[in-house]
Order: sequence, then structure tokens, then C-alpha cells
Amino acid sequence: MQLSPLQLGPVRLATNLLLAPIAGYCDLAFRTVCREWGGVGLACTDLLSPQGLLRGTATSLDLARTNDFDKPVGMQLYGSDPDIMAEGARWAVEHGATVVDINMGCPVDKVTKKDGGSKLLTDLSRAVGIAERIVRELEKCPLSADDWARRIGDPAFTPQSPRIPVPLTCKIRLCWHTADFEAGRACSPRLARMLAEVGVVAVTVHGRTTEDKFAGTVRHDGIARVVEAVDGCIPIIGNGDVREPADAEAMIRATGCSGVMIGRGALSTPWLFRDTWAHLRRAGLGSPSSEHPDAVETLSPLPPTDEQKIATIRRYFELAREYRGDHYAMTQITRRVSWFSKRLGFNPDGTRSGLKPFKEAIRLARSPVEVHTALNRYLAGELRAGCDVQTEDAIPAS
Ligand SMILES: Cc1cc2nc3c(=O)[nH]c(=O)nc-3n(C[C@H](O)[C@H](O)[C@H](O)COP(=O)(O)O)c2cc1C
Repeated sequence: MQLSPLQLGPVRLATNLLLAPIAGYCDLAFRTVCREWGGVGLACTDLLSPQGLLRGTATSLDLARTNDFDKPVGMQLYGSDPDIMAEGARWAVEHGATVVDINMGCPVDKVTKKDGGSKLLTDLSRAVGIAERIVRELEKCPLSADDWARRIGDPAFTPQSPRIPVPLTCKIRLCWHTADFEAGRACSPRLARMLAEVGVVAVTVHGRTTEDKFAGTVRHDGIARVVEAVDGCIPIIGNGDVREPADAEAMIRATGCSGVMIGRGALSTPWLFRDTWAHLRRAGLGSPSSEHPDAVETLSPLPPTDEQKIATIRRYFELAREYRGDHYAMTQITRRVSWFSKRLGFNPDGTRSGLKPFKEAIRLARSPVEVHTALNRYLAGELRAGCDVQTEDAIPAS
């Protein structure tokens, strides 16, 4: 069993690993940090409102922000009106998307009450209608070979035809009601087949129902049923609960999925893609990507030191300042410090330093200088306590 390289339209991904959209977290600065560690085949913006993009609201434009390094990138749209979604898709193409994605999995009321996100799982003809309408729109605005070369970040890119549209993907859950899943009536296998028929090039399946929200463990059997249903017609990307490289291997072996999307695991471990791709290659699953310009060559990467981990936090903070300003960066560092701390403080003798003083110093910082001072003090061996009770994931699994 070996994974084939993931091909999305004209784009061949460097690895079969994708960074998930996580509203409020997977901003350009964070995507950049993950990409710098290596192993990211594709990263995605957080969910975007097409109305917001078309009106040019500051929040939507900030969320959609990308640059030449942030490639290949998916832009994810949510909503339920096919025409507005199609206009949003055109906007995404005009603003640097390598891939457009439709959110069909969000369980949050604000989104489902307007018939978007995972509400689409309850109305397959609407879901497929939106996808079909977007595919037709994307066909009307194909990109030239030069555009693609820039968008993929590969100047040597030579497409098979002169103008190729941006591909469409969808991100779904297993179905809305858990009882339907348990009775073998999940809609996702059928939906994935229907989406493939109208030209969707890949489907990501978060292996939970809408009712599950984020509780329990990911249902590999549900993802496997979708893989089986599409029968190799399009790649199915598995998603859910990958925190360690071995989790990705387990998901691929249990489901037969063609790639793995990682969300919350990346928030604590931005180098998880590098390590997971190396792990998959060692396990004989990942194919060498040496011909790709973004290839990750190291099969046994060294675990990052605390210095490197702190440098990663600093890098995120400085990029967030550069892209969105000090106020945004200060807010983000405060809400992310618990995530970043999950991988800090492991001592060579097997003990673990407590991180409460460090987290408090970051949360109490009132300026970027104070954030850097806290990071320096941690490196100097200060801000460590004898023990620390690790809290559960600090962000709401909304
Ligand atoms: C706070 C939060 C925000 C999320 N935002 C999005 C989103 O904008 N779009 C999306 O498709 N999924 C979103 N998700 C779902 C994740 O992409 C992913 O499917 C889910 O967290 C399971 O994967 P994981 O266990 O690797 O995190 C979000 C999840 C969380 C916890």
C-alpha cells in the first residue's frame, strides 16, 4: 500500500498532508509557520463569507489574505446560495486561490441556521447544486500557464492545456444525525459520489456527524465507507484527531484515504506535517516527493529543541504583527499560548517543567516587547514551575 501523489486539477501536491481550516486560527501567519517547518501539501484559509468578500469587508479581506509563499492555498467558502457562492469562487480565483473549497461540515448555529455548513448534508440536491454551479463558474475563468506557475510556486510548471480552471473541493462530515450513521444511513458516501459526478476533484471527510460536534473519537469506519463509495474516482482526504504522526498512518490504513488533513494537532505542533510525512515515508506509505520543489527530504527529522519551539512562537507573533498589526498579534498570542505550550518544557531527564508562569507572563504582557521578554525569560530558564497540570485544548471545539 502506497499513497499516490495527490493531484487536484493541475496541481500536484508536494505531500499528501493538508492543513485544515480552523476559524480564528489558521491565518496567513500560522499557515506560513507550518509551511516553513515543511510537509504541508496544501493549506486552507478559514471559512470565508462570499458576501463579505464581495462587499470587501475588512474582516473577510484579512481572512482571505495570502501571498506567494502561501501556495498552494485553498480558499474555503460557506453559504447556501449557489449564485453568491459562485461569485465568491470567482473572487477567490481573482485573489490567488489555487483551490476553492466548499464548507459542508461546519456545525455552528450561525452557519447552519442560514442553511450553510453541515446543514447542506440534509439537502443533498442543494449541496450538489452549489458545487455544480461553482464548477461551471470556475470553468468560465480558467488560468493561463503563467498564472498557474505563479500560483503553484513552480516556475517550471507546464500544464497539459493552455488554460485550466481552478479546481473545486468540498469538506464534509459523515451526516447530520448520529442515529443515521449508526443505522448505516449516512449520506456522505452518496454525497461524495454525486460531488465527483459534477466535477469536484476531492472531498475531505471529517469523521464525525454534525451531532457529534467534536466529541468522541473520529469514526474511521465512516471515512472508509466514503472511500469505498467513490471507488478511486476522486481522492478522499481523511480528517479528525491526528495529533501524532502514527495517527495519520492509522487513519490511512484503516480507511484507505488518499491523504490526511490535520487541524488542532497543528496548533500545538506546527512541525507535525514534517514529522508525519517523514513517518509515512518511513512506513512505506508516502511516496518520495523529490521531484517537487517543496519536497521534504529528511526521513528522520530531529525533534525540535525548546529554542526552536520558542523561535516558532516568535516567528508566528512577528508575522501576525506584520500582516495584521500589534493588536491582532497580542490577542492571538494570548489565546494560542496554551496550544504552543503543549509541546514545551520536556526536560532531557524525562521530567516536565510546569508552564503556568510562562503562560501567565504571555497573557499578562501588554506590549510586543513584553511578549518577547517573556519568551526570553523562558529560554533563560525562568518562568518554569515544578509541575503543571495540562488543561484540555484551550479553544472551544465549536
Ligand atoms: C475552533 C474550530 C474552528 C474550525 N473552523 C473550521 C472552518 O472554518 N472550516 C472547516 O471546514 N472546518 C473548521 N473546523 C473543523 C476542522 O477543520 C477539522 O475538521 C476538525 O477540527 C477535526 O480535525 P482535527 O481533529 O485535526 O482538528 C474547525 C474546528 C475548530 C475546533
